[in-house]
Amino acid sequence: MRITVFGASGLLGKALVQELAAEQLTALSSKDADLRDPSQVQRAVRTSRPDSIILCAAYTDVDGCESNRDLAFAVNCEGAVHVAQAAHEVGSRLIFLSTDYVFDGSKGSPYQTSDPRNPINVYGESKAHAEERLLEILPDVCIVRTSWLFGHGGKCFPATILKLAATRPEISVVNDQRGSPTYTRDLASALVQLCRKSASGIVHATNSGDCTWYDFAREIVKMSGLSTVVKPVTSAEFPRPARRPAHSVLSPESLHAHGIHMPEWQNALRRYLESAPPASPSVVP
Ligand SMILES: NC(=O)c1ccc[n+]([C@@H]2O[C@H](COP(=O)([O-])OP(=O)(O)OC[C@H]3O[C@@H](n4cnc5c(N)ncnc54)[C@H](OP(=O)(O)O)[C@@H]3O)[C@@H](O)[C@H]2O)c1
Repeated sequence: MRITVFGASGLLGKALVQELAAEQLTALSSKDADLRDPSQVQRAVRTSRPDSIILCAAYTDVDGCESNRDLAFAVNCEGAVHVAQAAHEVGSRLIFLSTDYVFDGSKGSPYQTSDPRNPINVYGESKAHAEERLLEILPDVCIVRTSWLFGHGGKCFPATILKLAATRPEISVVNDQRGSPTYTRDLASALVQLCRKSASGIVHATNSGDCTWYDFAREIVKMSGLSTVVKPVTSAEFPRPARRPAHSVLSPESLHAHGIHMPEWQNALRRYLESAPPASPSVVP
């Protein structure tokens, strides 16, 4: 397969580059092609002429998006439109990475792909608009919604918890947001399978099972054999610029329909921890 990845320098992009090592891969960061510039995007796609494009590039700072609405829409929505237009021009298929944050989190049970979008933060809005625009430009686009990514080669929740737990006896973590942690290696494998199957439409792809951030943190500390106490707190006690959905678990039915099953998040976390460098010890003066 000839594949072009936008966002290859990001958390998911790095796992994808590994997964696609045997393919004819063009791996792009923002330095190679800025999504906001249609001519740069067009040039990159015309040059690589891929069978498929995987678009993981995005402005992913959820809190930053609140104060940089224009940037969020320029990259996440207009940037995605530029990629879809270039894909249309050369006849490439497109897989677009989207998010559980297109939902408001009030349903209380796993979201189906057909559930209406109703984002409650700017990041989610920019992705929800992008989904709508892409479906108009490329009716056979594949929109893959995922959530709570963790993996090697960038900032992620388990790495942050390990860093804090190495130096603090107690950490507080929110216990009123529920979702599905997703290991970038497992998602990269699912994305490549979707590519091979020429999947289209909306697909929900996360590790199986769900938890709160507090549950996730407890499991990280427990599996790492650390003694740090994890204390549950509410989102109200831990205010952030962007609101987060309370329950954004995504139903796996659409992924299963393609014959793809992702492992439980605890299994994924164990593999991540086994391959992660050990948490740095407390600094001794
Ligand atoms: N992280 C999560 O928990 C999560 C959850 C749900 C969905 N997603 C989605 O999954 C995808 C991958 O997320 P991630 O966490 O791997 O992202 P990430 O680590 O933040 O990486 C973002 C990537 O986008 C590139 N990028 C940013 N601005 C760009 C621009 N203007 N032009 C071109 N490239 C640009 C970055 O390139 P540089 O390195 O050159 O800046 C980097 O390669 C995203 O679409 C994200 O919305 C993520």
